[in-house]
Amino acid sequence: MDFRGQDILSTDQFDKATLRNLFEEATRMEDVLKKGHSDLLKGKVLATLFFEPSTRTRFSFETAMLRLGGRVISNADMLKTSSSKKQETLFDTGKVVSQMADAIAMRHPEAGSVAKFAEGSDVPVLNAGDGAGSHPTQGLLDLYTIWKEKGTLDGLTIGIIGDLKYGRVPHSQCGFLKHFDVNFVFVSPEALKMPRKIVDDLMSQGRSIIEVDSLADHIGEMDVISMTRIQEERFESKSEYKKYAGSYVLDKNLMNKAKEDSIIIHPLPRVDEISTEVDEDPRAKYFEQVKNGVALRMALLSLVLS
Ligand code: NCD
Repeated sequence: MDFRGQDILSTDQFDKATLRNLFEEATRMEDVLKKGHSDLLKGKVLATLFFEPSTRTRFSFETAMLRLGGRVISNADMLKTSSSKKQETLFDTGKVVSQMADAIAMRHPEAGSVAKFAEGSDVPVLNAGDGAGSHPTQGLLDLYTIWKEKGTLDGLTIGIIGDLKYGRVPHSQCGFLKHFDVNFVFVSPEALKMPRKIVDDLMSQGRSIIEVDSLADHIGEMDVISMTRIQEERFESKSEYKKYAGSYVLDKNLMNKAKEDSIIIHPLPRVDEISTEVDEDPRAKYFEQVKNGVALRMALLSLVLS
């Protein structure tokens, strides 16, 4: 696994051995986090350029860089306040910012845009989410959380629930999970099913998949209950979104049907798909997941930059 100087744009860059090594590196980074700090990336600068709203992902990249002794330059509102407002192309913005930073984490509302930006950049670019395309670092931290909690990924039944059409996180989860012996239960409204290409890719790896619309009927089979938000901003109209808003609500009642040793993950933010009464359930791991994300991104940054 040699990620030095590489962009991190797609799940395709990772195989099973690479994922295992990365998780082991993230475990070592948790020790650094316990101590508080290291000097591994002292003198390096990370730029975080967000053309779309974010709480966790941007802070997580920035915290990871700071905990490794590096520094951060940041713009959380690129669409409104950067030269993209003056029609600068993504290629040019990439070229320009890369003259000042050692690596760039970037998010944008259009699928494929981060790759365009990376073509211009002279330094590694990390995809922090491109539209309804993918969100590889979130997928990585989700798998890391499962691996930590269950000790393995092989042999698990993983339910992915919600907006599987527009959700970039489910797309990236599948892009990584395809390397493991996982049974998939995809739960979504008919109109928001997982893109065919992703299902076909998993099938070609010999994975077992069922696609259903009822969570209640299938929650009892799941070792991992991976919830996601209906992606309001990707719908053509508010009325179209409203047809699907509130499709799934994970509450105490539903959790009574779930396995005792199952875990619940969610990339967050949640709208209403996990009731707050579930937060105290020991199976709820979505806030710990945020912490795991810092360690995972520390591992990734150290591999790319050191
Ligand atoms: C996700 C995203 O932005 O894709 N959030 C995150 O990065 N933690 C999920 C979402 O917005 O639904």
